[in-house]
Amino acid sequence: MGERLAVPDLRQFKRRGEKIACLTCYDASFARVLEAAGVEILLVGDSLGVVIQGHATTVPVRLADMVYHTRWVSRATEKALVIADLPFATYTDRRRALISAARLVQAGGAQMIKLEGGRGRVEVVQALVAEGIPVCGHLGLLPQSIYRLGRYRVQGRQPQEAQKLLEDACLLEQAGVELLVLECVPADLAAAITAEVAVPTIGIGAGPACDGQVLVLYDLLGLTPKPARFVQDFLIGKNSIQAAVAEYVAAVKEGRFPTEQHAYF
Ligand code: KIV
Repeated sequence: MGERLAVPDLRQFKRRGEKIACLTCYDASFARVLEAAGVEILLVGDSLGVVIQGHATTVPVRLADMVYHTRWVSRATEKALVIADLPFATYTDRRRALISAARLVQAGGAQMIKLEGGRGRVEVVQALVAEGIPVCGHLGLLPQSIYRLGRYRVQGRQPQEAQKLLEDACLLEQAGVELLVLECVPADLAAAITAEVAVPTIGIGAGPACDGQVLVLYDLLGLTPKPARFVQDFLIGKNSIQAAVAEYVAAVKEGRFPTEQHAYF
């Protein structure tokens, strides 16, 4: 086993044009399989509220749930970078965000935390980074804002909205994020953001131009009843979960996934 991937290594992927393979993960057994299959980043996403806990949204997920799952993933891995989501309303101000993120890093073993939102999060990002906690931003579709949004839909189709997202990406980068998830945005907007920022972008429903890709593990394994356009079931034609995940990693690295068929325009 080599060393664990470190946050400062992330920009090197972008510099050398190597795509980053990321998947969500919530427990030790899957963490071992994903790491063995070559997944570089394991995201303990608050999507666990939906796929593990059976809620309709990520809103009910508590910080204690995130710490619990993050601990098992970080304990079981040696090489992958482990990122944990700050759940709904646990980062409303700098102090609250610091206390919440410290739990994920200290008790959970996460190396980086992810939070949703743009310009409104700049102060929180700056405070976390100043404390030595690496931050991954998350723009586009923000599942924690589902009650404001009304429904899960593509973000940034209107020129003004697209411009705002581009500005938000730059503001988050200036604030110190080291990674940026782009969820459900048109492929050309994701490409423009990816070209604009020096930190890697990780797309989900954001087309092929992002510096890396993430999927919810259970979507990749075909467990989701009505999968979104950007999902591919990699278990089809494979005889093990590890083989399916290895195919996902290869497809991301070789630029075979996602294609235009998985993208929004
Ligand atoms: O919670 C999650 O799984 C996520 C990914 C969809 C990016 O945030």
